[in-house]
Amino acid sequence: MIPVRVEDITRVYTSTTGFFKKDTRTVTALKRVSIKVSEGEIFGLLGQNGAGKTTLVKIMATLLKPTSGRAEILGRDAGKDAAWIRRKIGILFGGDRGLYWRLSGLDNMRYFADLHRMDPVLAETRIWKLLELVGLTEVARQKVQVYSRGMKQRLHLARALLHDPTVLFLDEPTIGVDPVGSKEIRRIVLELARESKTIFLTTHNTAEAEELCNRIAILKEGEVIAMDTPAGLRKQVRGLTEIEIEAKGCEISVAEAIREVRGVEKVTITSDEQSLMQFRIFFRGNDDGWGLYSCADRIAHLIGIERVGKMVIKNPSLEDAYIQMVGGRVIDDF
Ligand SMILES: Nc1ncnc2c1ncn2[C@@H]1O[C@H](COP(=O)(O)OP(=O)(O)O)[C@@H](O)[C@H]1O
Ligand SMILES: [Mg+2]
Repeated sequence: MIPVRVEDITRVYTSTTGFFKKDTRTVTALKRVSIKVSEGEIFGLLGQNGAGKTTLVKIMATLLKPTSGRAEILGRDAGKDAAWIRRKIGILFGGDRGLYWRLSGLDNMRYFADLHRMDPVLAETRIWKLLELVGLTEVARQKVQVYSRGMKQRLHLARALLHDPTVLFLDEPTIGVDPVGSKEIRRIVLELARESKTIFLTTHNTAEAEELCNRIAILKEGEVIAMDTPAGLRKQVRGLTEIEIEAKGCEISVAEAIREVRGVEKVTITSDEQSLMQFRIFFRGNDDGWGLYSCADRIAHLIGIERVGKMVIKNPSLEDAYIQMVGGRVIDDF
């Protein structure tokens, strides 16, 4: 069974502003989005603020209805079987809301277990197991108001896991959490995936998506503009690969010859007083990678293999791919 299937979903928000003179504004938050997530997969939805990530999570979690299209969770229609689906999924929204700050972490968990009508004795065992998983055992009896942002987020995560959901929706799980806390949350996410939970997470952080996700969809202004594995996305980059070479004792004129090599777009040279020269060569790649290595080889021969001290090939990162696709800033403009 496919844990998460989203088919051709569009969501339009209509809001009215003004009191005397009504102004109606419509925002199309999602445009014909289709996504399928397999069992045990960590699927990432990567997009900037306002891209539509939360809207999609809410639709999948049965909290919001799409304008058109449908969402199916574990084979059930999100529009028709909301109650059934809610028992099978866990949801985490980034942010501070939803916990009782005056209660301890432990009592928060007991309270939510009660809401889920869990047997108190069984619940107690499960609560301690989850607190252990998210690393909050030591502070379980402290009030939530003294918790750091990261600790609160981990408590949210433990709460979302209480009823042992099959599918987890994590909406920007590390937003506002410091680097150490974020790392801890990523560790827990990976551990949950090992326990074969299906995880759908959203993020605006490319490094996080790359580290955690088997597949990533890039969402831009409500549209999925790319969907692939992190490696596959990197391959789609039309950008430039940088070849960095350090060489000793060669003529500066070699730069002219390098510029003529097929695929080379730009060459810069810096040198220090020990006649060590540093070349930065920008190569316009094609998909197979063969061109790059032939190019690097040709350049090394032009410089003279025996003079080359160091050669580093810097492949485009997922960050580059992402920036190119969402068009945030031009990276090959030099
Ligand atoms: N309740 C709402 N009413 C009107 N517009 C909304 C509402 N919620 C979100 N939007 C708009 O929909 C778009 C997508 O928002 P959202 O799904 O929250 O994006 P993200 O989670 O990626 O930041 C944004 O332009 C946002 O302003
Ligand atoms: Mg959001």
